[in-house]
Amino acid sequence: MEFAVALLSKLIVHLPTFGAPPGNATLRANCLALQSTVAIENTMILDASYLPAPSWATPKLTTLGTCGASAPYSVPLCRVQFHTNTSATSGLSGEMWLPDEWNGRFMGVGNRGLDGCIRYDDLDYMTAQHYATVGTNNGHDGDTVRSFLNNPDSAIDFASRAVHIEAVVGKQLVEAYYARPPAYSYFSGCSTGGRQATQAALKHPDDFDGILAGAPAIDFNHLIFWSGILTRHIGAPDPTSPSFIPLASWKLIGDEVLRQCDALDGIKDGIITEPDACDFRPESLLCSTDTPSKNKFCLTLPQVEALLKIYSPLYGTAGELLYPRFDPGAEKSPLLPYLFGGQFFPLTEEWLKYVVFNDTDYTVQDYGLEQLALIDAVNPGDIASFSGDLSAFRNRGGKFLAYHGRADSIIPSGISKRFYNLIARTHSQATLDAFYRLFLIPGMDHCDIPAPGASAPGAAFRFGQTPNALPPISANANSNSSLGSESAAKSESAPHDILAALVSWVEHGTAPDVIVGTAADGATRAHCRYPMRSVWNAGAGWVCVE
Ligand SMILES: *[C@@H]1O[C@H](CO)[C@@H](O)[C@H](O)[C@H]1NC(C)=O
Ligand SMILES: *[C@@H]1O[C@H](CO)[C@@H](O)[C@H](O)[C@H]1NC(C)=O
Ligand SMILES: *[C@@H]1O[C@H](CO)[C@@H](O)[C@H](O)[C@H]1NC(C)=O
Ligand SMILES: *[C@@H]1O[C@H](CO)[C@@H](O)[C@H](O)[C@H]1NC(C)=O
Repeated sequence: MEFAVALLSKLIVHLPTFGAPPGNATLRANCLALQSTVAIENTMILDASYLPAPSWATPKLTTLGTCGASAPYSVPLCRVQFHTNTSATSGLSGEMWLPDEWNGRFMGVGNRGLDGCIRYDDLDYMTAQHYATVGTNNGHDGDTVRSFLNNPDSAIDFASRAVHIEAVVGKQLVEAYYARPPAYSYFSGCSTGGRQATQAALKHPDDFDGILAGAPAIDFNHLIFWSGILTRHIGAPDPTSPSFIPLASWKLIGDEVLRQCDALDGIKDGIITEPDACDFRPESLLCSTDTPSKNKFCLTLPQVEALLKIYSPLYGTAGELLYPRFDPGAEKSPLLPYLFGGQFFPLTEEWLKYVVFNDTDYTVQDYGLEQLALIDAVNPGDIASFSGDLSAFRNRGGKFLAYHGRADSIIPSGISKRFYNLIARTHSQATLDAFYRLFLIPGMDHCDIPAPGASAPGAAFRFGQTPNALPPISANANSNSSLGSESAAKSESAPHDILAALVSWVEHGTAPDVIVGTAADGATRAHCRYPMRSVWNAGAGWVCVE
């Protein structure tokens, strides 16, 4: 947003004088012509408008849901709104933003949560960097999946097809508008977008040359089950349950987690570099009597037992690992009310009612491992997103960059390690450096939120992954280099912008070894690629070791 506003003020001084319509007359004519000249299978162009001056884009024409407000765009562009039928009973709405000043690259962006919202902030972020950028509503409108009831095709769109269609339709629009195809194609998404990114590499390996995936909601069937069971551990939806832990207590639980585990990485800074090394013992918080004391924070036995479950991985009846545990260190997250506010996790409830069980009266009282077996069996739209075979993507030269905050309160970072190891085993390789690199980010919560409570220099969470996590301007400088410029390849210093790093890898073969994150106060920290570890060295600061 800061970025958008900065660009906005920069461009306003260049507003044209009265007379001819503002902007580039040729591009305006080409843009308006798209509506009648473009023929794309199953697709209707709803509108093509040339937007010459930075302003606010109103929501898409077909919005039925709650995606809401208008959003800024920062550079002159051609905005194309389209609808594509994906089957006889399903379809998606999409927008392609084609900037006047184009870097020759195609960019697809993803979604979040269960939403069916075109992410204008991402479209703006990417078009401001001169990518021709497309996004869709992922096959449904608004933040509910009620429309999926008895419509398996909507689940297929949500699972993987919408992103494939955005690539197919988007590339045709690019070629129609600029009279040449994109030289390279990219995808970027976090959370659900990270899952979509993973599905793209697994199912449609030719769609994108480079893929950026943050905090991916992969192993989706187990994730959606785990989120529900986590809320059940504290008695949801019953706030009078003896195991219920009030939201206000979590800050103090977080303090105790830090007391036990902060120094394990060699430095007390409010950041647990390796949460998997933290063997948190909540028993230390147990009240000495049955009634909690007014003066000193403590927990009852049922509450301590709930914490022991929350900080243990989820295992099946045969002892098999089903899903990693909650990240210790994520207790102070602003997102905590979603999981620990006292209600059953709303996204899980929606998904079970409308997509898995097709039973709008489903109640969560009997929720347990039997339900997980059914969730796995239905696997709506093949949404599991947990296959380790990326050989087709690797063989076509695709490059994949993943990142995950190590204090992620919504999707535990353990899942990204687990997925890396699954791919490595599937490919019989110790590391995947040739085509898949994972960066774990200590002190970062979900996608682009710094975990609160770190002392200075704090969480180095900004590395260009989303518009809320801009790298320093100077570091961003080579990210908008025009195609053919060698500046990105020649840059000696480690990348501060993960998208620029992906572009360098795809186009120049320069793979990132570390990603440098920037903290709120401008301090930086090198983030290591898994399985290397970040270790504190009093002389050298943070260093990556095998
Ligand atoms: C308008 O855009 C076209 C295509 O990018 C470019 O060739 C032309 O120079 C531009 N015209 C002006 C007046 O900027
Ligand atoms: C999409 O499907 C609807 C309903 O079946 C149909 O009326 C419409 O013509 C289709 N649109 C395109 C572009 O194929
Ligand atoms: C619910 O409907 C979907 C199709 O929309 C189907 O695949 C699934 O098996 C159904 N669930 C149950 C429990 O029958
Ligand atoms: C990035 O793009 C802006 C706007 O087009 C341009 O003024 C600037 O010179 C570019 N920076 C680099 C390093 O190419």
